[in-house]
This record gives sequence, C-alpha cells and structure tokens, in this order.
Amino acid sequence: MYEHDVIVVGAGGAGLRAAIAAHEAGADVAMVSKLHPVRSHTGAAEGGINAALQEGDDWELHAYDTMKGSDYLGDAPAVETLAKNSPEETINLEHWGMPFSREEDGTVSQRPFGGLSYPRTTYAGAETGHHLLHTMYEQVVKRGIQVYDEWYVMNLATTDEADPNDRECHGVVAYDVQSGNIEGFKANQGVVLATGGPGQAFDHTTNAVSCTGDGHAMAYRAGAPLEDMEFIQFHPTSLPSTGVLISEGVRGEGGILYNSEGERFMFEHGYANNSGELASRDVVARAELTEVDEGRGVEDEYVHLDMRHLGEERIMDRLENILHLAEDFEGVDGLVEPMPVKPGQHYAMGGIEVDENGQTCVNGLYAAGECACVSVHGGNRLGGNALPELIVFGKRAGRHAAGEDLGDPEIRTGYGDDVEDETETDLPVTPGDAGVDTSGGVAADGGVTADAEGVLERTVETARQRVDRLMDKEDGVQHAEIRAKLQKAMTDYVNVFRTEEGVKKALRLIRECRQEYQDVYVDDPSRTFNTDLQQTIETRNLIDVAETIALGALVRDEFRGAHWRKEHQERKDEEWLKHTLISWDDGEPSIFYRPVILEGENKTYEPKERSY
Ligand code: FUM
Repeated sequence: MYEHDVIVVGAGGAGLRAAIAAHEAGADVAMVSKLHPVRSHTGAAEGGINAALQEGDDWELHAYDTMKGSDYLGDAPAVETLAKNSPEETINLEHWGMPFSREEDGTVSQRPFGGLSYPRTTYAGAETGHHLLHTMYEQVVKRGIQVYDEWYVMNLATTDEADPNDRECHGVVAYDVQSGNIEGFKANQGVVLATGGPGQAFDHTTNAVSCTGDGHAMAYRAGAPLEDMEFIQFHPTSLPSTGVLISEGVRGEGGILYNSEGERFMFEHGYANNSGELASRDVVARAELTEVDEGRGVEDEYVHLDMRHLGEERIMDRLENILHLAEDFEGVDGLVEPMPVKPGQHYAMGGIEVDENGQTCVNGLYAAGECACVSVHGGNRLGGNALPELIVFGKRAGRHAAGEDLGDPEIRTGYGDDVEDETETDLPVTPGDAGVDTSGGVAADGGVTADAEGVLERTVETARQRVDRLMDKEDGVQHAEIRAKLQKAMTDYVNVFRTEEGVKKALRLIRECRQEYQDVYVDDPSRTFNTDLQQTIETRNLIDVAETIALGALVRDEFRGAHWRKEHQERKDEEWLKHTLISWDDGEPSIFYRPVILEGENKTYEPKERSY
C-alpha cells in the first residue's frame, strides 16, 4: 500500500494545479493518473483563459458575463471567486514561463470570445492548453511531486455510513496499467478528483478517448451527488469527420460562418443580431443545426467557417494549429478555402457537487476541473472559462485538502434541509432497479467500522475480485459493443435538440446497456497494457454518467442554456432556478434539487432575457 497526505487523481490542468498548491501548503502529495500528465486532455484546449487584466475591464464584468452566459444557473459565490482570482492565477502562469501570445509592445495579448463584453481571453496561439500543461508539469517536476502515471484509479476507498455526509474517503485503489497489479493508495488528508469530462458518452465529441467520466462515476457511487448533468455543451465548430476542435479563437479573430447559400446566417437569419458568430456557444450551435435542418447545410450536414480574409500572416501568428488540424483531418487548406464545421459534444457544465473549496459532501473527498460542478458554468459555459476554472479551483481544492483554512463556503453540498425532493416526473424507467451487479463497482464498500487501513484493504480486495471475474469469464459481450450503443443513444437523443420521447428512448437504451454489461467479458488475457480491460471498466463508468445526463434532461422541463426541450420552449424561472442533483442511493439514482445562489458580493444577478 502506498501512503501520502494528499492524493490527486488525474494530471490535467486542475490536477497539476491542485498538486502544486497542496505541496506548497506543506503536504506530501502524489498524483495518480491513467495517462502521463502531458497527455492529459487539457492539452487539447485551444482557445484561452478569460482574465480581466486590462484597464477598462474588471472582475465584475467578467462575473456578469459568466452569470448571463450560464443562463442564471451559475452560483454567484463561485462565479465571483473565478472572476476575482483568474487575473492573479494567469499572471502566475506567466511567471512560471507560460509562453502567452503577445502584442508588439510585449504585453500579453487578449482576444474576443463568445459572450464576453470585453476581449479578455488570454491565449498562447491556438494551443493554450498544451502550453498550460507543460508549464505546470515543469513546476510539478521542479518540486519533486511524486507522479504515478499509467495507474488507472478504479475505486475510492470510502466508508459506507447510511448518510453520505458521514462517510469518509481514505484513499483510492488503482490498477497499474504496465503490470496489471492492483494496489491501495492511502490518503491521510484528502483525495482530489481531477479526472476531466465524460465526453466519450457521445460518439461525436471533441474529447479524447480518455474522457470517460471516471471521477464522476466513482464519486457518485461513493455517495457524492452529481449536479446539473443535463447541461452538456456542444461546441459549434468541430470537424465533421472526427469531432476534432476548431477553436472559437478563429471566430474571435474574425472568422465567419456561412451556410450553403453563402449567407452569413448568424446575422442574416437573425440568430444573434449584435454578436453574430460571437454569440454564446449554445446559441451558435442551435443556429447551425437549424440551418442544416432547414436545408441550408453543406452536404446536409455542416456549415462553413471562413478565415481566409484574416490573411496568412495573422493566421500563421495566431491560428497556425488550426491550419494543421483542418489539413490533417479534413484535407482542407484554411488559407484558400473555408473549413467544414458542425456542433460536437465538448464539455459537461455539470459534475460532482462541490463547494468553493472543492469539497464534496463525503469527508476527505474533493473534486476540481471539468469533473466538478461548483457551479461556475450553470446552463452554458463561456468559451475561455474552463482553463481559469482549472487553475482557480484546482488551487483551492489542493490547499484545502492539505489543511489550509479558506474560510467557510457559502455553497452547500449533499442532502440537507435546503433541498427539495423530486416528486412527480413521469420517468420511463423507475430510478431504482438499475439492474446492475454492484458487488464489483460500488466504492463505498469499506465498512463503517473499519479503520483507514481496513477500508483500503477491503476496497483493494473487492477491486481484485472484480478484475479476476472479468478476466476469468470466457465469453459474453465486449465493452465496445455496449459503448457504441450508449454513444449512439446519447448522440441521437440527448443532443443539441431534445424531445421528451427521444430522451425517454435514450434512458431505455442506457438501461439495456446496464443489463448487457452484466455479461461483459475481457477478451485479451494479458495483464500488461490490457486496454481491453481498462476500457471495460471505463464503459461501466460511462453508463452511470450517461444515465444521470439523460435523467437530468428528462426532469428539467424547461429551455435554459444548452438544455433545449422541444415541448418546453421557455426558461421557467419560477420553477427552475435550482440545481438538479442525482445521487446513487443503494444501487439506484435518486433526484433532488438545491436553489441557485444569485446573491453576489455587491449585487444580486437578476435573471434577464438572454440575447446576443
Ligand atoms: O474553442 C476553443 O478554443 C475552446 C475553448 C474552451 O472550450 O474554452
């Protein structure tokens, strides 16, 4: 068994920042990640970091834009924490050597991004995430922080009191991808989940194959609720054949969207008369699909993004990476022709419910970055707000896990006296009776009475038995079949446009995937680098997460942010200024709600009509 003060799971932007912060707070920290840190999906982030750095801009404008972008489902204390701290954290990155793009006079460049009232997106070409990862990994190496890379965390070692608020997380159990060994990692002070998003629940996504919602699923099974999972962002400009991201930076620099008739439809069809291509992402994604649905798409599938008029010099200076992506994946030369683009799953606004200090309702369990929901993004995230979230809330989670006092949080977590229970939605399948063998997957299996070592040992034993069962089974269904069915169901029915009938269909199909998973087997008998085994375990996580996305989408009968419902075409503030929380109670999901916090430090963010 390995032992450290703080264990950070995942080594992307949030994990690296949490580890550095916990180390600076004096903790013995270790990172455990299924990938080498610089292969983390943060490296695919292109656009930039929103930070109110310039004269004329300020954190209050950033907070206002974010609340409006969230369609008034962001919690003001979290949004204001983000906006206030992003400038300092961005400057800190600069001091660590991050190669930001610069103006002639040497100042760090900032460009416009969707939904921003000021050009406040700081960037490093169109490879901001790549540079962010390398800059922070250098700091991790410099500090001698222990990294267990290619260790896949399967479970949290958590006690199993009836009330999740009484549970304690003592560490994690991980599988060494190189050797196949399964070991316990004891965390004396805290575990920080920084495992990224669940994009692989969809089959057209900008997300890497590693984005399988592992942290979401582990925390959920350990008793921490998942919050606002129905809010999935579909980025307006992904490449049609692969889902590879074409940065919003292209539109930030002046790139234009055209339909098959050569119309600049964002203006000409009145989708966003003020901001056009730089309306917020949910607005642009719906506009593109409306054009396609009404017969003005190119090849009935996509629209064109044109940057030719920006000129070679500017493109090479600020968007060179985009030229390579368009050429490599679509065979299109962006200097001489427009690029094909369509909406693709990009980001999960929801995640593991945490407070401003990154704490979940399970003692000793933290989450930060895309896997967490604090909630900064509410119903729709603004482009350029993911990276500041990683550094601001990654740092807070790391410090708090290491025992620093950050003050009492305003955001509450877990089931309590401020929540409202779900009563009346007509669900196509009962939330209970999930039909899954929980014996190998439930994290909260350490036992109430055991001490930390005992909890770890029992969780390790359960994980070993689970892997043995999967490896010993000689035939059955392969994970790829189940995963493909799940991804298709989500893409067909829980996409940009959602109908009640479609979401119900998706839920039924997800439940079928659960049943089929009972018969899953691993074909590859090897214990070393067995991707078949790892992906089989990941697929179980995707099923859990997909179910919460679809359940959330079904119960929220309104249109807010990225969540569009055919039968419910208005935002219902009277009823729905609240977060959807789904928790896993004894092998079944249950739903409750917590009111959104609109009161900020100096003002209340009154919901207004959201137009761009
Ligand atoms: O379009 C982009 O470059 C993505 C940025 C983001 O998701 O924040």
